[in-house]
Amino acid sequence: MKPEEITIRIYTYSDPDELPADSQRLIELAREATQKAWAPYSQFKVGAALLLENGEIITGNNQENSAYPSGLCAERVALFSTVAHGGRPTALALVAPRTQKDMTWPCGACLQVALELGGPGMAVYVSGTDDDSPIEESTVGELLPRGPYIDR
Ligand code: THU
Repeated sequence: MKPEEITIRIYTYSDPDELPADSQRLIELAREATQKAWAPYSQFKVGAALLLENGEIITGNNQENSAYPSGLCAERVALFSTVAHGGRPTALALVAPRTQKDMTWPCGACLQVALELGGPGMAVYVSGTDDDSPIEESTVGELLPRGPYIDR
């Protein structure tokens, strides 16, 4: 048996100005998208924004339902919408409430869809809904290193 170690690099930015302008804008739009989330059951409002190859930005937010499993995470709402718009996403931003000081990162199902549509190199930015939250960055491929993926 030969063990293998897989590294996930997470970069932390305490000041959004450390990031390029298009990434800052993406996070800003994800933050705005939290406001219109449909989350009457959890009260946990999440916003997502995706930068497309052509520079366009597609947003989404979580959609809950009285039939609980019918709801969907903000990331997949936005990810599926990129296909409807005919664009390929290159970066994902997620803004959600923090649990104590911990960021909310995309769930496994959202990472799998992000892998399919954006590929392993797609940047993932996360930030909290609170004003003084830092921003953290990683990639889909590092967060889901062995997800099934066909490069198209
Ligand atoms: N949620 C998201 O939209 N994205 C995440 O990354 C974490 C969880 C939503 C699903 C549900 O509507 C609520 O947050 C509570 O889990």
